[in-house]
Parts: sequence; structure tokens; C-alpha cells
Amino acid sequence: MKIEPFATEHFYERYEFSSPHLLSTSDCESVPIEELLSLGGSSLQEYGRTTLGYTAASGPPKVREAVAALHGAESADDVLVLNSPIEGIFIAMSALLSSQDRVIVLGPCYDALVNLPRHLSGQVEMWMLQREDGRWSLDWERLDALLEQPTKLLVVNFPHNPTGFLPSQGELDQIVEKCEAKGVWLFADEMYRGLELGGRSRLASPSTRYEKSIVLSGLSKSFGLPGLRYGWLVLPDRAFAKEVLNWKFYTSICPPGSSNALAAAALAATDTLFERNRQRIERHLALATAFFERFGERFTFRPPEAGSVALVGLDAPSATAFCHEVAQKAGVVLLPSAFLGYDDGHVRFGFGRDSFESALSHFERYLESV
Ligand SMILES: Cc1ncc(COP(=O)(O)O)c(C=O)c1O
Repeated sequence: MKIEPFATEHFYERYEFSSPHLLSTSDCESVPIEELLSLGGSSLQEYGRTTLGYTAASGPPKVREAVAALHGAESADDVLVLNSPIEGIFIAMSALLSSQDRVIVLGPCYDALVNLPRHLSGQVEMWMLQREDGRWSLDWERLDALLEQPTKLLVVNFPHNPTGFLPSQGELDQIVEKCEAKGVWLFADEMYRGLELGGRSRLASPSTRYEKSIVLSGLSKSFGLPGLRYGWLVLPDRAFAKEVLNWKFYTSICPPGSSNALAAAALAATDTLFERNRQRIERHLALATAFFERFGERFTFRPPEAGSVALVGLDAPSATAFCHEVAQKAGVVLLPSAFLGYDDGHVRFGFGRDSFESALSHFERYLESV
């Protein structure tokens, strides 16, 4: 079975661990295991007693309860723990989609959110975010037109990677209502939940009010723990949840006990980790704003409303060529928008790592030298 190349991950595979200045990562600064355990009220000694037998396939009750509370789910039974967030996209879409099912995907987006439904159904239509002066916005006319045809699934991602767009609660409610009116399933990727910026409020997960919703999140971004490879789905429709679990038996069966222990600590420290990362991003955004003022002729900056990334307009013939050149000549890694299904005139910046300031000054020196 052939599937489209995962452009973003191939690009990072090439540059992420060989380049000194990462300026586009979507995760936040990670935390040492010892500190994580202590923040979560545990200890290395306790963690050392974890055994490595098979575990409950859906995840341990303590973790499922914490996740249910985070998403306002009625019951921990709605939660299925994953052995990585990306696994959730794969198994939920595999359980839902058949060939010829029509899928609408909010774009631009993380490759898997569009490539997997395209692979499974072959019928994907894009609902692109619109560029406005200073921000991104939803194109309601386009969504209404798309929903006129029978549709199986709408895929959204809020807070949004790569633009940093966050709809209002009213806008998200409208999306849910439109899906409900047409019986369309809603896949809501909430990987950046908790990183609402500038005092904005966190959205209610669609799973709190719509049974045909599939909510994805995990520890990689807002918690800053991507190497733990830990995520979850919130699945209010129990019959569908069983189908998804069946797929999970073919991909990973159950989460490792060691990951469950660390995830329990992370979830116990949710507020602290979210707050630290929000503050980190806000600090870096202040530096970025000053940078984009200095280089206003080359970049068009729409500041993120939530999340750890922003998609920035670039005045260059090809953003992809520019990113390869900057990575090779200056060791600075920016992600070109073409890999995220957009034009070749934008680059993604990421604000969640402590190295942001130094990476930005290396980038600035490079721009001044050419
Ligand atoms: C929107 C979105 N969803 C899902 C994922 C997958 O997360 P993970 O790499 O932790 O499996 C990512 C990763 O970048 C993402 O940006």
C-alpha cells in the first residue's frame, strides 16, 4: 500500500537533529523525568517500581479520569489512551472511513490530517483558512457550499497548526451545529489545547455536546513531552469507540506501564505545565514581534491567538528553497508552508522552545549577511 510522503516529518528527519538552531518546532520545551515526577507528586523511587507487563488496553483509570476532566467528558469510559497522538489519527480514521467517503479538511494542516483520509477514502476537499489583515479567519460560505454534498467527516484542528488561529466558542458551536444538522462526524484535533494566548479562553471540546465527535489530544505539545509518545482520543459514541479500540489492537494493543506512570504525573501537573509554556510562548512572541517589525518588508506576521506556532508570509520566490538554504547555510530550521498543503510563500515559526531567542538571533544575522 502506497501513501503520500509525509513531507513535514521527512524535512525534520533531514534537519532536526543535525541543525543547531530550531526555529519552527511545534512542541514546547521538555521537562526532565525527575522534575516531571516531582511536579506530579511522585518520585523517581516510585517510578522505579513500575513493572513492565501488559497494561489495560484503553489506559489506566487514573489517566482516563484526568483526561476526561481536561476535556469535560462525562465519563472516563469515553477516553482511549494512545501510544502516540499520531496513532489516534490513524486508528480513528481507519475505523470510520471507507473508500469514496467524502471528507472535508480544514487547511493548511499537519500532513497526517489530510493524507490519511485521502489514502483511506480518496475523496478529500479542503476548507482553507482565509488570510485577513493581521489574522486568520474561517470561510463560512465555503464550508456551507462544501457541506451541500453528502459528507462523512469534517476534520478541524484548534488551536491551529500552522497558523495559530483560535475560533471563538460561538464559531466552534456553529461548526458543531452544521455537522449535527447534516449528520457529519467531526474530528477535532486539540493537540495545542491549553496554549490559549493573550488571556483567551479555552474552547469546550465538541465531545461535550456532539456524540459524533472524535477529539484528539496528547502530551506532545502543550505539555512539552513529545518523546513520551502519549496521547488520547475522547470518543462519546461507544459503538464507534469499540471499532477504534479494535484498530488499536492491530497497532499497539496497550500503553507501556512506564509511559502510564509518567503520563499520570504530567496530567497531575497540567496547570503548571500549561502556564509555563504559555508564558514561554508569550515571551518569545514579544521578541518575534520586534523582529518582524525590523524585517517588515520581508515577512507578514499574523500573531498566533493560541498554540505554539505561526504561519508567516515570506517575500521570496520559493519558501521551500529558502528553508533548505537557511538550514544548510546557517543551521536555522524553518518549515516551508508547501509541506502543510499551502502556497510556497509562507514559513512556520515555533515559539515553544527555550532556544528560540538564540535561534532567532542566528536567523537575523543570516538575513543581514545576505
Ligand atoms: C495538529 C497535530 N496533530 C497531531 C500531531 C501528532 O502528534 P505526535 O507527533 O506527538 O504524534 C501533530 C504533530 O506535530 C500536530 O501538529
